[in-house]
Amino acid sequence: MARVRTFDIPAAVEKLNRILEMELATVVYYTHYSFMVFGHARIPIQSWFADGATEALGHAQEAGTMITRLEARPSLNIASLPQTHHDTIDQIMTETLAREEAGVELYRDLLKSIEGESVVLEEYARQKIAEESMHVANIRMMLRKSPPKEAKQAAE
Ligand SMILES: [Fe+2]
Repeated sequence: MARVRTFDIPAAVEKLNRILEMELATVVYYTHYSFMVFGHARIPIQSWFADGATEALGHAQEAGTMITRLEARPSLNIASLPQTHHDTIDQIMTETLAREEAGVELYRDLLKSIEGESVVLEEYARQKIAEESMHVANIRMMLRKSPPKEAKQAAE
């Protein structure tokens, strides 16, 4: 006998749609940022953003697929794209960090709502939380001006 699904499917779809819309906005932001990088680090950071845009599109496609798997219709919207002013790589990275942290929260939100109820969604959400959290950690390191103290002492 098939196990009756006990989680709130419309609520999970709602959360997946927020994720889809956020990832699509990330595609736009990362593409934009890739144009806005100037200075010595332009080449690697530009391609880091371009790769990030491709990755976010993959994440959007995964979220959309999860929605159709639940027999619902994926949103055709995109999260809001407020115009921001950034002149330096630091400003761009600071904005990116805030956006990525907010993005991880959407996956955490999804996990909370289906934990123990759907192995597929749980695995999906956990994997994305891990992936996106590593991304956040990388951005934090990119924003650092020097290595952490212990590592610095160890290197001396
Ligand atoms: Fe993502």
